[in-house]
Amino acid sequence: MVRKVGVIVGSPRRESLNRKMALAMTALQPASLALEIIEIANLPLYNQDLDDAGSAPREWISFREAVSRVDAVLFVTPEHNRSVPAPLKNALDVGSRPYGKSAWNGKPGAIVSVSPGALGAFGANHHLRQSLVFLNVPCLQQPEAYIGGATKLFDAESKLINDSTRDLLTAFLAAFVVWIEATRPRSTS
Ligand code: FNR
Repeated sequence: MVRKVGVIVGSPRRESLNRKMALAMTALQPASLALEIIEIANLPLYNQDLDDAGSAPREWISFREAVSRVDAVLFVTPEHNRSVPAPLKNALDVGSRPYGKSAWNGKPGAIVSVSPGALGAFGANHHLRQSLVFLNVPCLQQPEAYIGGATKLFDAESKLINDSTRDLLTAFLAAFVVWIEATRPRSTS
């Protein structure tokens, strides 16, 4: 059974290292996973008034539907001021509402954090875990993936050229396959 994985990239930047990493993971994915990026850059800021009035923007509706359709979610994110970038936090909020209809609920999840600096966006990785506890997204524990020094990991064509990072991502995806099967809701096939 192939599991659909929605990939949420925390940076909207054109040359985003995180997007490059997400695409590298797509190239490395095992046959049992189908990774697909769900875009978040176009989501209007969350405002509960619009849900209360039944006038949610179409971008919110399509995003919620896209998250609902996947079996699992993979977050690939940088760190902004030692926390989760605002576009990603907004996407979490948009997907979590209306109250009681969270699109995230029960989806197995995993986090890869990527930065040009040495710390590998550890702060964002762990702040994101805090939200995922509340959103009922069981999050892969090991291996952890804090990828620092990311400007040196790609060639001019955005291809991943670092063997140890490739090995880490391959092991990470293999562990995610096992995690998805262990934690996915039992009501689905
Ligand atoms: C950053 N950056 C950053 N990096 C980091 O390791 N820790 C941090 O707290 C921050 N804070 C931060 C705040 C803001 C507003 C910006 C714009 C940037 C640097 C960040 O890691 C770098 O820009 C990455 O390259 C962003 O990821 P993408 O866009 O390459 O995927």
